[in-house]
Amino acid sequence: MCGIYGHIKKSSKTNSLNACIDGLKKLEYRGYDSAGVAGIHDGKIVCCKTVGKVVVLERAVKAIKLELSVAIAHTRWATHGKITETNAHPHFDESRSIALVHNGIIENYQKLKTELEENGIEFLSETDTEVISQLISFHYENDISKAIQKTLPLLEGSFAIAFIHKDHPDKIIASSRGCPLAIGICHESHDIFLSSDSNAFTSSKLDVFYLHDDEYAIISHELIEVYNLAGIKLVKQIETLNLENISISKEGFDHFLLKEIHDQPLSISKAIENRLDYANATANFSELTLSDEELQKTNRILILACGSSYHAGCIAKQIFEAYAKIPTEVEIASEFRYKDPIILKNTLILAISQSGETADTLAAVKESKRSNCPVIALCNVKRSSLSRLASSTLWLNAGPEISVCSTKAFTSQLTLLMLLALKIARLKTLSHKEGKKFLFEIERLPAQIADILSKSSEIEKIAKKYAGHKDFFFIGRNYMYPTSLEAALKLKEITYLNATGYPAGEMKHGPIALISKKLVTIALCGNKHTFEKLLSNLMEIKSRGGPIVAFAPKNSSEILSLTNDVIFLSDSISDTFAPITYSICCQLLAYYIAKFLGKDIDQPRNLAKSVTVE
Ligand code: AGP
Repeated sequence: MCGIYGHIKKSSKTNSLNACIDGLKKLEYRGYDSAGVAGIHDGKIVCCKTVGKVVVLERAVKAIKLELSVAIAHTRWATHGKITETNAHPHFDESRSIALVHNGIIENYQKLKTELEENGIEFLSETDTEVISQLISFHYENDISKAIQKTLPLLEGSFAIAFIHKDHPDKIIASSRGCPLAIGICHESHDIFLSSDSNAFTSSKLDVFYLHDDEYAIISHELIEVYNLAGIKLVKQIETLNLENISISKEGFDHFLLKEIHDQPLSISKAIENRLDYANATANFSELTLSDEELQKTNRILILACGSSYHAGCIAKQIFEAYAKIPTEVEIASEFRYKDPIILKNTLILAISQSGETADTLAAVKESKRSNCPVIALCNVKRSSLSRLASSTLWLNAGPEISVCSTKAFTSQLTLLMLLALKIARLKTLSHKEGKKFLFEIERLPAQIADILSKSSEIEKIAKKYAGHKDFFFIGRNYMYPTSLEAALKLKEITYLNATGYPAGEMKHGPIALISKKLVTIALCGNKHTFEKLLSNLMEIKSRGGPIVAFAPKNSSEILSLTNDVIFLSDSISDTFAPITYSICCQLLAYYIAKFLGKDIDQPRNLAKSVTVE
């Protein structure tokens, strides 16, 4: 998604242009296709915009040899208009008095653009963003506050914006609605930073606050003033942010994705740390504000999420129903937000989002809050919008997930959902004995994952053998069905190959028509309860000449006669926890196929780490 950054120098020796480039490098993980930076020099807007990576922009900035003390910058993930330098941000007004960067979507931009063009204003770009800079200028009569107050109410949609004006060379003006924008003051230098993601601040210790919907800030190195649209000055809640221990490094791996796959024994350990209560055979979450009595009243669960987080919800559904005996619905957030949902009382709403900034999930949660049912968020990013919206937030504690493709966050989400299911199940009917068995299995997960990682070279060989294929099925039954959905997404995301997940029993209802020697079926055989049934599904595929690769529990020798290749895994993991280990196998498979195909693994084309627009 787009990323916004800004810097105002106070007492450091920093060139604000360089501070912004460094900030954009920390926002690269969000996914983008062009970048730009702007400041004011000799009363004029100066600007560099480039297509491609931030390093290309960095070279262009070095070439202009300017030292500035105020600058704004942007990484663009194209929504309106082609990927070109002209469409890259910052955008200007026609008199080039303003340079503006924007994250979000202005839904009524075409109408506003037409009205401005009818007033004789000429546009340079195809973007929705340029409407904002033109409008501010259109309403500007030497009072920047008034111009903002007139412009913002005209905008429909979401935005986080920052802009500079040549009449106010020492200031940055910022505003937001539905998109995050953090403002931080460095403890040491008192330099001021703005960012879409406070974790991208390049200073280690800052006082930080966030703009809320339709607030705007006028920021200079002497003063920061925040107003609402009525022009009333606001007092903002400040929190101290310590970024010292956030390490963002590949630690010797070729890609963040491979590092994060190998992080999973540790990230799962962090997910369960201090949460296993053997004495009561349950799980505890220090951050959970709902009481046991409130949890015990739960008689329905509604899960809202997108993408991999949605797949985690689909697996969790089966676990909540199996252990807590609570009917559980899982809704794709972008669908849920536009239907008039029926939410019965005593429903517990779970919002799953690694970033905590996914626009569809945020909107779905806002829609669900009309029911007054409690919302528990599962998030990996502190201070994210979702964590500020939910009644409680359970932290994944997985550490920064930089690769666009979700791996450790997904398995940590699953682990937290399992623990939450245990907690609620023990408040319902699950016995102490069953609870202890559950805890024992959870505690073994890091070791089980380490065992899977030890099979990386075996999986790499399979990946190389099948990397030439264009079409893949992932199939499984019971818990392995939603696991196959996630596995297919992994492959699609980073290899751009066609991959679909199916319940194995569905093959004969249509998909089997596609079986040919060109279509590879990856069989996830990690469900003992339905294993025999899966074998007959594989026979149907084999008898039609479809190549099959299986991940299967060792000692399942029947599988050998049915498959072209098989990777045997531990048979000591039970059905409930197998989605974690089988998902990691598929993460590795997708990674090695993508690596063999030479793909941009950490920043796949068209994708963003946090989809902050609809
Ligand atoms: C997962 O690999 C994808 N990057 C994507 O599907 C992601 O899971 C989805 O956009 C939801 O993101 P969130 O968990 O941050 O809300």
